[in-house]
Amino acid sequence: MTNTQTTLEWDTKLDTEDVVLEVENFSVHYATPKGDVIAVNDVSFNLKRGELLGLIGESGCGKTTTAMAILRLVQPPGRIVNGRVTIDGLDVTSLQGEELRRARWRQMALVPQGAMNSLNPLMRIKDQIADVIETHEGKQPKKELKERILKLFTDVGLPSRIYNMYPHELSGGMKQRACIALGIALKPPLVIADEPTSALDVIVQRIVAQTILDIRDRMNVSMIIIGHDMGLMAQLVDRLAVMYAGNMVEVAPVDSAYAEPMHPYTQLLIEAIPSIKERKPLKLTEGLTHDLRNPPPGCIFQFRCPHVMDVCREVRPQLKAYKPNHEVACHLYEEGI
Ligand SMILES: Nc1ncnc2c1ncn2[C@@H]1O[C@H](COP(=O)(O)OP(=O)(O)OP(=O)(O)O)[C@@H](O)[C@H]1O
Ligand code: SF4
Ligand SMILES: [Mg+2]
Repeated sequence: MTNTQTTLEWDTKLDTEDVVLEVENFSVHYATPKGDVIAVNDVSFNLKRGELLGLIGESGCGKTTTAMAILRLVQPPGRIVNGRVTIDGLDVTSLQGEELRRARWRQMALVPQGAMNSLNPLMRIKDQIADVIETHEGKQPKKELKERILKLFTDVGLPSRIYNMYPHELSGGMKQRACIALGIALKPPLVIADEPTSALDVIVQRIVAQTILDIRDRMNVSMIIIGHDMGLMAQLVDRLAVMYAGNMVEVAPVDSAYAEPMHPYTQLLIEAIPSIKERKPLKLTEGLTHDLRNPPPGCIFQFRCPHVMDVCREVRPQLKAYKPNHEVACHLYEEGI
């Protein structure tokens, strides 16, 4: 690609049919003694029913903060400073108290980063699931509750013999699937799984990924999968959303994102995927080049971009669709630049 390459802006609006999640101009800051860390900066994206969206980007780019803020779980010193999130038409950003508590698990659930370690070691898996169900739906008849929990185990590929087991009696992959079972216990339309396959070996990663695909097919649940592994994402998700330093830089159908990545950062990420067929030097990208409390004017990626132009240092590029459903925030594709 050259700096002179331009593509006409795609003028068809993104298909907005059956959108479950709509995130609009979302910003989240963390207060620190030296000023606000801008962890999520004016991010907009959506998620359709039954869709798997992969949220990717290097450590510290704001993936977990985005997830936690969508679910209204960001704790001080973090705070949502701007934007709106709707799930199935429900404005989550305006919910308070009991309404918010009811919406969690029912409308939206999180399988948190390091979820395996968040299981209560003193409670059997079945009791932890029963707890979620009964907290939201009241006391349930014992037999029906047991059947429902066993069905959830089947949904996530866990054997019924773990019914009476404690977390320490399960393997890592089983614990991760138990956490997914907790997330889908109340059949919420939206589940966010934060690095569900990290800390698992490669084979178990594939099993957990297959579990996620099975659940999507069976329950038509919409999921955001946060991760680092571009290879696994390619096989798992329908669309890819790439974040850099708190900004959404590219959102595209997965085939298009891998075959024709448009943002220079996505291009670097894809070039860095190791291949055993073709031995090439690993092209590693460096970490964030600026303090998140003091982002530069213009493009957030300017200090690492091989195609940087004068305009990039002054004007922030907006996320726009230049191909069907393929959005990118980069001046390279704007006409007349
Ligand atoms: N409590 C906090 N106070 C100040 N800054 C914070 C706090 N929590 C997170 N941050 C900053 O917000 C930014 C985004 O963090 P976040 O955890 O969302 O990143 P991430 O993309 O999930 O990273 P990872 O891949 O390592 O999980 C980081 O730069 C981080 O240092
Ligand atoms: S807008 Fe950013 S990513 Fe695009 S060419 Fe300029 S510096 Fe690079
Ligand atoms: Mg994280």
